[in-house]
Order: sequence, then structure tokens, then C-alpha cells
Amino acid sequence: YGNPTPEIVFDAKNLSGKPIEKIERKIMDLNMIFKDKGASETMDQNQIVYEVDCYFPVENDTEGGLFFGITRIKPGKVGDEYFMTKGHFHSNRDRGEFYWGLEGEGQLLLMDEKRRARTEVIKKGSVHYIPGYIAHRVVNTGDTELSFGACWPSDAGHDYASIEEKGFSIRIVQKNGEQHIIKE
Ligand code: 6PG
Ligand code: NI
Repeated sequence: YGNPTPEIVFDAKNLSGKPIEKIERKIMDLNMIFKDKGASETMDQNQIVYEVDCYFPVENDTEGGLFFGITRIKPGKVGDEYFMTKGHFHSNRDRGEFYWGLEGEGQLLLMDEKRRARTEVIKKGSVHYIPGYIAHRVVNTGDTELSFGACWPSDAGHDYASIEEKGFSIRIVQKNGEQHIIKE
């Protein structure tokens, strides 16, 4: 019964198989999220910051379905701020998600709708439950690629707009070679 899962395999570097969709986010797609707009404008706009390989076994917005993805964030900075994902609330706010670390090291930023924020260290083997109503972003604080897996409801959707407008209430920057959390 049901459709058998097509042959799909993953490791820290890849999610491969026929139905995998690949998303790339370059500096040009992310200019609005970094603090130092001047620094991002002088960078190669085609430089890839992160890639997401996704497996969508059901159609977008299917109630009760699940999606699966692997995200790889390159090491790097814009000014003194580490490379990171755009970050989002789910459009259907109550939808939760799992993240798990595969390789590299970074911080998962979590922020509620009152803009209260906290962080969890994401690294190989770490598991993170992201409850509904919580915006999530991953920051690569290491000098190697940070790779993590994710599983989320197929009717979660992405609300990027509120993060593009207001950002997160905390940022992770490098100061004297070490990571620091700064408040907006
Ligand atoms: C999701 C997941 C995850 C995320 C990627 C890229 O809800 O789809 O949280 O797959 O999309 O890690 O991060 P951004 O979507 O914030 O660019
Ligand atoms: Ni999500």
C-alpha cells in the first residue's frame, strides 16, 4: 500500500536519488539578512552561502505529510557576521520541525513571536526539536562546512517576510577570533 520510497540516500555531503530538488542561496539572495550591507555588496554576488537538498514525497501543503532535507552552510562571513540561513517562521505557525547535526559546528537561533531568542549548539549527532511559533535560523560558526538534516510538515510553509523586515533579535559575530552573541 502507499508509494514505496524511491531509493534515496544521504550523508553529510549529499542527499541523492532521482526526486531530489536542490536549492542554492547565494550572497545576492541574502543581502538583506546581514548586518553589514556594505560588506555584502562588495562580495561576489554569485558566491554560494548554503545549499538545501530536499525530498518532497507529497505535494506542498498536504496536510499530515512530511518533507525531508539536508542543508549545507559554507564557512564564511559577511563583515564579522558568520554565514547563516535566511531563517523563517512557518506560515502555518503551529507547525514544528526536527533538525539534527551531521557535520561541522554552529548555532541554531530560535526566536518566538515576542522576539525572545535563545541558541542551541548544532554539531554532529545533536538533535533539535523546533516547536511551532518559533522562528529558526542556523549559523555556521566553524571554519568547515556545517551540514544538518531537517524534517518538517508538508503544510508548514515558509514565512520569510517577517524575518526580512525585522530580522532576529540576536546575531552571531566573530570578535577577536571568537564567537559572540550580539543583541539587536
Ligand atoms: C524548512 C526547514 C529547512 C530550511 C533550510 C534553509 O522549514 O524547510 O527549516 O529545510 O528551509 O534549512 O533555511 P531557510 O529556509 O531559512 O533558508
Ligand atoms: Ni522550517
